[in-house]
Amino acid sequence: MKYISGLSSPVFDRPGQRTLAILGSTGSIGTSALKVVAKNTGDLKVVALAGARNVALLARQAETFRPAYLGVLNEAKAEELRALLPGGYAPRILVGQEGYTAMATLPEADLILAAQVGAAGLVPALAAARAGKVLCLANKEALVLAGDLFRRTCRVSGAVILPVDSEHNALFQAYAGHDGRQACRLILTASGGPFRAKSLQEIQAATPAQALKHPNWSMGAKISIDSATMMNKGLEIIEAVHLYGASLDEVDVVVHPQSIVHSLVEYEDGSQLAHLGMPDMEIPIGYCLGYPHRLHIGLERLDLAKIGTLTFEAPDLLRFPCLGLAREALAAGPSHPVVLNAANEIAVQAFLDGRISFPGIARLIEHMLCKHSLTSMHDLEDILDLDAQTRTRSEEAIGKSEW
Ligand SMILES: NC(=O)c1ccc[n+]([C@@H]2O[C@H](COP(=O)([O-])OP(=O)(O)OC[C@H]3O[C@@H](n4cnc5c(N)ncnc54)[C@H](OP(=O)(O)O)[C@@H]3O)[C@@H](O)[C@H]2O)c1
Repeated sequence: MKYISGLSSPVFDRPGQRTLAILGSTGSIGTSALKVVAKNTGDLKVVALAGARNVALLARQAETFRPAYLGVLNEAKAEELRALLPGGYAPRILVGQEGYTAMATLPEADLILAAQVGAAGLVPALAAARAGKVLCLANKEALVLAGDLFRRTCRVSGAVILPVDSEHNALFQAYAGHDGRQACRLILTASGGPFRAKSLQEIQAATPAQALKHPNWSMGAKISIDSATMMNKGLEIIEAVHLYGASLDEVDVVVHPQSIVHSLVEYEDGSQLAHLGMPDMEIPIGYCLGYPHRLHIGLERLDLAKIGTLTFEAPDLLRFPCLGLAREALAAGPSHPVVLNAANEIAVQAFLDGRISFPGIARLIEHMLCKHSLTSMHDLEDILDLDAQTRTRSEEAIGKSEW
């Protein structure tokens, strides 16, 4: 197994204060990142913050951290934001995809935290990679859509990807100081989500409120539904393959309801090295922002005696078919993961809007994958075209029948 392509020489070690641009600062990852920054002001300084629609929160963040740049989704949101900013503070407000891309490549930023949700995060994250940045990547969809492109880009630009996703961050930590060529298996842990112990019948009747209630993690709506369907773990298998140069059969999933073991690397001699910690995203975010130094996080310490029992079980593909769909999509070729991701994003939103049922999410994705024939994905335009087409077709399919 090869070691991380973008990270082949993880030598980034800039002493002193680092400057940071956060794309998606108003989301769950973004707000956790700002908590880490607030506890480490000697080490980290925010130079740019981007939200999309939640300008009230963005204005509060801006008032506290005073970055020189702010980003929002469109001109109307920029107007709203201007009206909320305190007198005497006049940051540059950048707008839309172009604005986010400019923020992802700012010469003033040492680190770019890509924490926007879904395919919307792809273009700015790729721009950061093209600019040779240190990219702290939370947006897993970017790698699902364009993993090969990221690998090629990082090789040319020298960009470094530091994985924020807790499982991939755990793998990164379990690789540290070891010969990655001797790794033979990556084991991703999964909480199993809110329906882990529910019957197929109960899962079929699941409501958005039930699906949004994750037992261990506090996250945005899209990833919470992905956790309930276990598509999140499917996307993470694809993410791991791209980040670590593993083959599909070298990546396994084990359900671990306590979310204390965040993932494991198995080496040739049978040793498995795990990363353990409290289930709080501040830990992997802080690890990336301070890398290779560990920042002050100040959370409750993990007390294994108090936890007492850690359990593990095999995932159930019958109740959670999305996990199998993600594997099949990756095995089928470079365009299938694009279809998988776009159909999933449309299906998740439709479920949240009450337009399709919970099992309809997997059914719609499977339907879109079955209708798709393999196409080559040479560049970003190919990916964006297929993403857009799949979204349109998925909406049409939702309109035509009951899901
Ligand atoms: N949450 C977690 O614990 C966690 C863990 C691992 C990985 N991740 C990954 O991290 C990413 C963010 O997840 P999250 O849970 O933080 O999501 P979230 O809470 O929904 O936040 C998403 C962020 O993206 C912004 N955004 C929404 N639509 C956008 C668009 N069209 N263009 C640009 N920005 C847009 C939102 O802005 P507004 O709110 O201002 O509209 C918000 O700042 C996802 O890829 C997720 O899979 C999350």
